[in-house]
Amino acid sequence: MNAQSTLRTLITLAATAKENTIKQNSVILDGADAPNGLFYRQYNTNEARKAVVVGDIPLTYGRFKSVCQELNISCIGNNTIVDIRDINIIRDHLYPESRQKKVRNKAAIYAVSNLKGGTGKSTTTATLATGLCTEIVERKFRVLIIDLDPQASQTSLFFPNFDNESELTIGDIVCENYIKNENQTDADIIRSCVKETNIPNLHVLPASENDRNVELFTRELLQKNPQYPVHKLLEPIISVLSEDYDVILIDTPPTFNNLMLAAHYSADNIIVPVRPSKLDTDSTEKYLEFLARIYGILVELGHKGYKHINVLPTAVNETSKTQVRIANSLRAASPYNSFANNFIYSEAVLRLQELKGTIYSYSLSQGLITRTSLKNAQDSCFMLISVLAEQLFEQNEADQ
Ligand SMILES: Nc1ncnc2c1ncn2[C@@H]1O[C@H](COP(=O)(O)OP(=O)(O)OP(=O)(O)O)[C@@H](O)[C@H]1O
Ligand SMILES: [Mg+2]
Repeated sequence: MNAQSTLRTLITLAATAKENTIKQNSVILDGADAPNGLFYRQYNTNEARKAVVVGDIPLTYGRFKSVCQELNISCIGNNTIVDIRDINIIRDHLYPESRQKKVRNKAAIYAVSNLKGGTGKSTTTATLATGLCTEIVERKFRVLIIDLDPQASQTSLFFPNFDNESELTIGDIVCENYIKNENQTDADIIRSCVKETNIPNLHVLPASENDRNVELFTRELLQKNPQYPVHKLLEPIISVLSEDYDVILIDTPPTFNNLMLAAHYSADNIIVPVRPSKLDTDSTEKYLEFLARIYGILVELGHKGYKHINVLPTAVNETSKTQVRIANSLRAASPYNSFANNFIYSEAVLRLQELKGTIYSYSLSQGLITRTSLKNAQDSCFMLISVLAEQLFEQNEADQ
């Protein structure tokens, strides 16, 4: 290929990729009902009867119908479709005491981190966050994702129409790149940047490509004052938001910089997604060595220790003996790891990501993916979500 054809090919490639994105978005956005331009998860009657009770025995059809009538939820015939908002109204009605109780007084902060690219950080963050909001029946978790990665994976997953020119991002807040009116406090601005999603109780503090400027900003601060506490860059934001949530999951980039130092300093837990292949574990090993060195610095800066270091093998093909062996040894390497299983490889994860969702943004009856694939992925990840929920309860007791 000569230079001209190379250039033409690259331009065609870029145009095709852009066209695909536009096509995908137009399918998704047609008739969307949630504030982020996506759809609320739908449940048919049988799924709804199961989703509103703890345990395996669904609510009887008669009881379900009478609860819906009592709560003014439209439910006519056997094949009624309700959405996740109705499911939550019914759960609130059936478990009023436990669902009204705050899960935590202050958010637990989890940094999801691995400097190796593509290990599943963003997928893990989004899956755990959506699962905590949709799968735990008897408690109502308030969950926030902070998108700390200028690649903005979470932002584009949850907000297909995000306009980074008019909307503020985490980078804008850190750099104080906003104008306050006289009645507004910094806390008001921070809260106003958090956006609602199609999953009730799951909010996202978005990122954009422009957030790469934060590094420049922090370097300038350090040039002016070498003692500037860059490790505390996220503290003002987190101290405001931890009042409003039970858990904050920080999705981090695969590069280390001052903001990453701040994320590791503000976190009280970490989740390290790893891919169980030889090459990936080599890089993860380097990351863990690096983390140990960085942690030495964090201790000097006053960090009190992580409560959990959850190593999570991701996209694991459980029919591969090698992958399972590597995954087991990685999980066992952290005695503070309480995840007992892997995040399995699943086509459902990939396909639903294309539709701007996770395996918990859709129900089996929505027919977007084969039932077995989605059910296996949902059942397997439910174990991870239960462990995370347990950690959140346990840490709250310890904090009191
Ligand atoms: N359980 C899974 N099953 C199938 N595919 C998966 C799974 N987890 C992650 N993937 C795929 O692996 C790829 C990388 O995942 P992801 O973007 O979450 O990694 P990352 O660590 O956030 O990457 P980066 O370092 O660039 O931020 C994505 O295409 C994602 O769809
Ligand atoms: Mg990512």
